[in-house]
Amino acid sequence: MTETRIQSNDRPLIEVDGVTKTFHVAKSASGNSRLRALDGINLSVRRGETLGLVGESGCGKSTLARTLMMLERPDAGAVRFDGTDPFGLRGKELLEWRRRVQMVFQDPFASLNARMTAGEIIAEPWKAHRGLYKTSREREARVRELLHMVGLRPSDAKKSPQEFSGGQRQRIGIARALALNPDVIILDEPVSALDLSVQAQVLNLLNDLQQRLGVSYVFISHDLSVVRHVADRVAVMYLGRIIETGRTEDVFEHPRHPYTAALMSASPKLDVSGAERQRIILQGEIPSPLDPPSGCRFRTRCWKAQDVCAEQAPGSEPAGKDAGHLAECHFPLETLKVRSGELAPMP
Ligand SMILES: Nc1ncnc2c1ncn2[C@@H]1O[C@H](COP(=O)(O)OP(=O)(O)OP(=O)(O)O)[C@@H](O)[C@H]1O
Ligand code: SF4
Ligand SMILES: [Mg+2]
Repeated sequence: MTETRIQSNDRPLIEVDGVTKTFHVAKSASGNSRLRALDGINLSVRRGETLGLVGESGCGKSTLARTLMMLERPDAGAVRFDGTDPFGLRGKELLEWRRRVQMVFQDPFASLNARMTAGEIIAEPWKAHRGLYKTSREREARVRELLHMVGLRPSDAKKSPQEFSGGQRQRIGIARALALNPDVIILDEPVSALDLSVQAQVLNLLNDLQQRLGVSYVFISHDLSVVRHVADRVAVMYLGRIIETGRTEDVFEHPRHPYTAALMSASPKLDVSGAERQRIILQGEIPSPLDPPSGCRFRTRCWKAQDVCAEQAPGSEPAGKDAGHLAECHFPLETLKVRSGELAPMP
C-alpha cells in the first residue's frame, strides 16, 4: 500500500469543521428573525464506525443530517467528504458522491412511495446510476440479494409498502439505502417510530450489515439507550452545538457536561446520591434557538451555573483520558460515574 493510500485511509470519511446554519424565520418577541440551527459544529466520522448524534427535539440533529446530505448549505464552515468539499462537486463527481452517501428516514410509512412495489423502491436509485446494474436480470438478482440481506423474502419484491409492517418497511428503506453500495448511511431516528422489540431487531440488522459491509453510520436519536447500544462514538447536541463528544463508553461512563448527565439522569445506574440526583434531573424546555441564552447555552437549566457561564461561552476542552473526549463547560463534572456502563438494556 502506498503512503498516500495509507494517509487517505487514516483520514476520517466525513469532517465537519465549524459549520453554521441560519434560517430566516418570522420575528420573535425580541425582534430576532435569524434562527441559528447549527452554530460552529465540529465532528468527524471514520470508516466503518457509528457516530451517534443525540439531543432533545429542536437541537439541530436533522439540520446537521441534511447538511451532511447537501440538502442544506452551511453559511459558514466546511464539510469534507474523503477530503473533498461535496458542495464544489459537479457532473459525474457529484453523482459518485451521491452514490456514496445515503439516508434512512424516521417514518417508514411516509418515506416509501405507496404506488411502487418494494422491488421498484429498492431499484429506484439505479435510475440515476445506470452503469451499476445494466440488465433487468442483473437488477432483479440484486433486488433479491438486498431483500435477503435485510431479512426479507425474494417474493416480497412484488408487494407494495402497505402490505408490510413498520419494521419490515424500515428494512426496505435500509435495502434502498444499500442499493448503491454507499460508504456512509445517515439514519435520522430510524427506529423511533417502531415498537421496542422491533427496534431491537432493526438495530441488530444494522449492526450485522455494518460488520459485513464496513459501512459507516451517522445514527441520530433522542434516545440515549439506543445510541448507547449502537454507537462507537457519540456527540451530544444542545441548541445547535456539540457540547460533549467522545467514545461511547467514555461519555456514558464518565459524563463531564452537566447536560449529558442530565439527559442520563433517569438512569438508576448513575452513581450519585439522592439529593444530587434530584438536582441533575433535566428540567424545563430547551430555549428557542431564536433567542439562545448568552454565554453557555445550557445555563438556564444548569444546576452548576455561575456568573461566568452567562458572560463567556465555554470552549471545547479535553474531558477525560481519551484525547477525543471533549466537553464545553466551565465547571465539568468530576465525580459522576455510571456503575456498569449500561444505561438501559435493550430488549
Ligand atoms: N427549514 C427550516 N426553516 C426554519 N427553521 C428550521 C428549518 N429547519 C429546522 N428549523 C429549526 O431549526 C432548529 C433545529 O431543527 P432540527 O429539525 O434540526 O432539530 P432536531 O434536533 O432534528 O429535532 P427533532 O428531534 O424534533 O427532530 C429548530 O428550531 C427548527 O425549528
Ligand atoms: S458552562 Fe456553566 S452553565 Fe454551562 S454547563 Fe458548564 S457549569 Fe453549566
Ligand atoms: Mg429531527
